[in-house]
Amino acid sequence: MADKSATLTIDGTEYELPVLSPTSGPDVIDIRKLYGQAGVFTYDPGFTSTASCDSTITFIDGDKGELLHRGYPIDQLAEKSHYLEVCYLLLYGELPTAEQLEDFETRVTRHTMIHEQMHNFFRGFRRDAHPMATMVGVVGAMSAFYHDSTDINDPWQREVASIRLIAKMPTIAAMAYKYSIGQPFVYPRNDLSYAANFVHMCFSVPAEPYHVDPIVARAMDRIFTLHADHEQNASTSTVRLASSSGANPFACIAAGIACLWGPAHGGANQACLEMLREIGTPDRIPEYIARAKDKEDPFRLMGFGHRVYKNFDPRAKVMKQSADEVLELLGIENNPTLQVAKDLEAAALADEYFTDKKLFPNVDFYSGIILEAMGFPTSMFTPIFALSRTIGWVSQWKEQLADPHHKIGRPRQLYLGDTTRDYIEIENR
Ligand code: CMC
Repeated sequence: MADKSATLTIDGTEYELPVLSPTSGPDVIDIRKLYGQAGVFTYDPGFTSTASCDSTITFIDGDKGELLHRGYPIDQLAEKSHYLEVCYLLLYGELPTAEQLEDFETRVTRHTMIHEQMHNFFRGFRRDAHPMATMVGVVGAMSAFYHDSTDINDPWQREVASIRLIAKMPTIAAMAYKYSIGQPFVYPRNDLSYAANFVHMCFSVPAEPYHVDPIVARAMDRIFTLHADHEQNASTSTVRLASSSGANPFACIAAGIACLWGPAHGGANQACLEMLREIGTPDRIPEYIARAKDKEDPFRLMGFGHRVYKNFDPRAKVMKQSADEVLELLGIENNPTLQVAKDLEAAALADEYFTDKKLFPNVDFYSGIILEAMGFPTSMFTPIFALSRTIGWVSQWKEQLADPHHKIGRPRQLYLGDTTRDYIEIENR
């Protein structure tokens, strides 16, 4: 029950609206009954002031630059935990005991292979397809292969679908990559960790043994962890909206992948590295800063700015530190792209345009440098984001379905088109 209320006055009539108080963050005005009572809609394209659901999974304080998963700060999780433990936390709400973690890891590991017939599905794509295009198609097609986990009303099937998605996404992403470079698919290895197995599936070939560098595996795991969830972002909201109609989990996650692909969202990591390469040398930075500030130029500084963070993205801080560590450990000295990134960050943060608008580096600013150092082509950056974010999508999907009050998502509109008019015969137009 709300213990506060807000009063809205329209044409002299007052309407009392309940105000809901969260455990953290701003209060929320409950307008669910507004249309029924007052006959008006609210208008908020881009959802800049709208809470679309309630959730207990992730909290962001954009002004402080804080990100919590089930209450645990992201920097602590990145430093002390690992991806599968964070998956457990997001999915079930608590950190696992050693026994629970072992059981969870076993369940995920046992589902890493994909149906053999799905290999043919990959082969239907052109070799030069972007791996995200392949992933949207293949993940959507999972609903055609795993019929026994598509009944969303059965909690056991929901659980199996969740585990399958977490387990198979690295296999699918690695296969999309292998297919694009014309190498044979590499089967998962269950003796490797989740992150090491992904690296193995991407970089090993059947012709010779391959050893996963533990430094690379650790860095990979950290990248997965930093991307695991981010409350009601565009792709997560897409998953929730798709799911609200009762669509099956694989179709919903495919919708999330499609949304993530865009350069304003997960596609920014690829766009950012391409931008850093294009800048090339620190002396060209002023030119790009000027372009980013020019309202006539559509160019934006990729990896900069965020709808919610009006301070440093806490993930970017960890990512920057990781970039330094990984490049040093891999013996990559004086990386020119990293130098351009650092100088660009410094130049932007010293510029009033960026400070006034509170534009700071986001998670995508440094991640590409690490992924490139590991040997990934830019086209794989967004698929890696997608596989990392799958746990977030799945956890939010599961939370939504467990809510007995959930409804189909059906926004309204401010209609500005023509009012009723009579059809005109073609010869009279
Ligand atoms: N470079 C230059 N100007 C920018 C940038 C940027 N990267 N980002 C925002 N602005 C300006 C924008 O032009 C606007 O100026 P004005 O008020 O004068 O019109 C102001 O800052 C507010 O921007 P907005 O587009 O209204 O803000 P938004 O919350 O709708 O957009 C964003 C957020 C992330 C889409 C945007 O900052 C952006 O396009 N950034 C570059 C792409 C990027 O790095 N995306 C990754 C986001 S983090 C990971 C993820 O979500 O997947």
